[in-house]
Amino acid sequence: MTVVVELDAASAEALQGAAGSGCVVVPSLDALRRHLEQRPKEYAAVLGPSVDLSAAVALADTLRVTRPTLGVILVRRRVDTAVLAEALRAGIRDVVEERDLTGLSEAVVHSYAVHTAMVAASDKPEGDDEEKGSLVTVFSAKGGVGKTTIATNLAASLAEGGKRKVCIVDLDLAFGDVSIVLQLFPVHTIADAISMRDKLDPAAVESLLTEHSAGLKALVAPVQPDAKDLIDGDLVGKVLRLLRESFDYVVVDTPPAFDEVVLQAFDESDLLVLVGTLDVTALKSLKITVETLGLLNHPKDQWKLVINRADMKVGLSPSDFETTLKLPIAASIPQSKDVTASINHGKLIVLESPRHPVSSAIRKLARDFTTDQPAEATTTTPADKPSPEQHKASVAPKRGGLRRRKVTS
Ligand SMILES: Nc1ncnc2c1ncn2[C@@H]1O[C@H](COP(=O)(O)OP(=O)(O)OP(=O)(O)O)[C@@H](O)[C@H]1O
Ligand SMILES: [Mg+2]
Repeated sequence: MTVVVELDAASAEALQGAAGSGCVVVPSLDALRRHLEQRPKEYAAVLGPSVDLSAAVALADTLRVTRPTLGVILVRRRVDTAVLAEALRAGIRDVVEERDLTGLSEAVVHSYAVHTAMVAASDKPEGDDEEKGSLVTVFSAKGGVGKTTIATNLAASLAEGGKRKVCIVDLDLAFGDVSIVLQLFPVHTIADAISMRDKLDPAAVESLLTEHSAGLKALVAPVQPDAKDLIDGDLVGKVLRLLRESFDYVVVDTPPAFDEVVLQAFDESDLLVLVGTLDVTALKSLKITVETLGLLNHPKDQWKLVINRADMKVGLSPSDFETTLKLPIAASIPQSKDVTASINHGKLIVLESPRHPVSSAIRKLARDFTTDQPAEATTTTPADKPSPEQHKASVAPKRGGLRRRKVTS
């Protein structure tokens, strides 16, 4: 159920009407605290325009830890960026204007959906994910830094000529070029999943894939850029979860934007490869990316910072990135014209020239993923490297909704 906090009777009545049947109104934040103590199943708290902003923010900040399944919705007479930023920082799930009663109804429905998903996730038996493969999303909010190059070569490295089953998914839905880089001639694209939405299962999703090489298949982006508008986060989530059932690794290439499908991919991921190049604009977008991921309570131990063209002498060094982002570098990939030359030959550099410094850096990253150890382990000798199955058990079950995650630090 939903509880509304509002002192003004007319406003309270309007908010109560929009929040749906069974909604109760209380006059103050203290009354809300008492109400919540008695009712552990409430899924939304609507803080009306008469509630003081800093008190609302302070309460939301506490509730996101003590009651993560409760969605706090803030209603303001006017919403500006300062209010939005403060609300986002405190973990308030939605901010709506007082006159936007439809927006309020939608926010309540959204809180209900998140609450239901979180309760279902916490009821899930231990080890439920252990049979599934790992999902690695390659992202940068800045374009042209090498996401597709890294995603495709990483996928081929993980597949290791058929040793593991790997699928690459192109979520750059408008301008994806995975099929060009891999020289594929696909019969199907992710757009074909739209008409299958209600009957998707692992076999249906597999029928949309195009084979590249031993162990590596691809789910490519639509041919028509406007098909993007018909593919939402919900559909992408379903597809990714089904792929995890059939593959050891699913590698996701992304557009340079925080759109709905990218957030869904983050939500499903075990690891995020955050790519940057040695320029201030890339550093700025990485900084915004890690701050946003932090606000979304995404676990920091899953972020892998990769510097591409890392040997360029341009005044910024990889260590500047480590210091500013407070993240260790997981891989440094040198610049080489052979990367573009390989693409122009229709080959992946890790397959064409496995000993090339670019290939070595990407294959080492893949090896780190396939032998990932819990944080306390410091060394791995070849003799005690875990099998892919042990690896899956160690990294795959770290999933959870971005909005659903508990605060980790
Ligand atoms: N290490 C490298 N050395 C030299 N060229 C590189 C390197 N990495 C990527 N490139 C080249 O940079 C260009 C952009 O790379 P890529 O398409 O992988 O970037 P992207 O981040 O996927 O771009 P977009 O945001 O447009 O999807 C390509 O021509 C690629 O060949
Ligand atoms: Mg790309």
